[in-house]
Amino acid sequence: MNITLKDGIDWVGYIDWTVRDFHGYKTESGSTYNAYLIRDEKTAVIDSVKAPYVETYLKHIAALTDLGKIDYMVCNHAEPDHSGGLPVFMAACPQAELVCNAKCKTTLEKYYDTVGWKWHVVADGDSLSLGKRSLTFIDTPMVHWPESMFTYVPEDKLLFSMDAFGQHYASAFRFDDEEPLEVILQEAKAYYANIVMLYGRPIAQTMERAAALDIEMIAPSHGVIWRSHIKEVFKAYQNYVVCKPRPKVLVVYATMWQSTEKMALAILEGAQECNVEAHLFNVESTHMTRIATEVLDCAAIAIGSPTLNNGIMPSMAGVLCYLKGLRPTHKKGFAFGSYGWSKRGGPTEVGAVIEEMKIGIMREPIRAQYVPTPEILEECREAGRALGRHAEQFA
Ligand code: FEO
Repeated sequence: MNITLKDGIDWVGYIDWTVRDFHGYKTESGSTYNAYLIRDEKTAVIDSVKAPYVETYLKHIAALTDLGKIDYMVCNHAEPDHSGGLPVFMAACPQAELVCNAKCKTTLEKYYDTVGWKWHVVADGDSLSLGKRSLTFIDTPMVHWPESMFTYVPEDKLLFSMDAFGQHYASAFRFDDEEPLEVILQEAKAYYANIVMLYGRPIAQTMERAAALDIEMIAPSHGVIWRSHIKEVFKAYQNYVVCKPRPKVLVVYATMWQSTEKMALAILEGAQECNVEAHLFNVESTHMTRIATEVLDCAAIAIGSPTLNNGIMPSMAGVLCYLKGLRPTHKKGFAFGSYGWSKRGGPTEVGAVIEEMKIGIMREPIRAQYVPTPEILEECREAGRALGRHAEQFA
């Protein structure tokens, strides 16, 4: 496995082949916790790994250098998938100063017993010489935590971008040109949608700062390192930060006795009459990770739930809670679903939630009492056509 990024800079992280849940994100492709060793007149390590994998990580570092001679540990992001190994690392590398910004120091002090750690607190734009090369620190607040930071090596035109441009993707290879481009871009899209979609504005600001740098390589904290397809991933991110709609319609539903499912299928049929991609997802059979990824670039969405205990089906309530937190933008849609005797119920409550999500409401919820009549199914088809006509504008 090729682990060398540049002369004197190597990957020393951990490939997590088996992880399938990352705080709710279904990581079907596993993940990696990337960390990097820079050997110059001074020696620096960029980031740590999840706590259970710290021994493997230290073994990777020790194969290349003496742990006792490491000068700096740079912590770009305090989330435990990158900082969990720090207590063991700092004990094993007694010379190392922990380089981070002030917010990161405060966060790490809350997570860990940091007594005895040597700190080197940096501010936005500060530089640290390692000898032939240097590290420049760039604050990237809310990408996706307040203390998030990039580290840039101008001499190597190399950006350590922490979570940005990452993918939850375990692989035998470390570089973007060693994997099919469509696969890694899809993984980058899923990562963006499920981890950072709600921070589009700060990410757009960060992209502007990154675009001003001379970059030959982007080394994120997860997944492959970008060296051949930087333009492609930048372009993809420019679309992601505004949730740029494509001519795509989603029909997402839960069902109990198939009434809401019949409505969903009729909406889908209507949308399929238009020149758009139309997708149908039952939340019982499709994980919310996939649904969030599809929502990122859809133009129009219909969301349906039957009524259970005067409210939404729990499976749909979970998906709505997740999507509401991720705050997708630039979507239009409506709610639908069945009910029995309750005036409140699934379709009405879904409608209220999607309004809170600031999805542009195209019409009042479509409601069917017990079973949708042929007239209601035709209303669903017509509403599906309206979704399709809206989405067609983004071709
Ligand atoms: Fe990969 Fe926000 O941690």
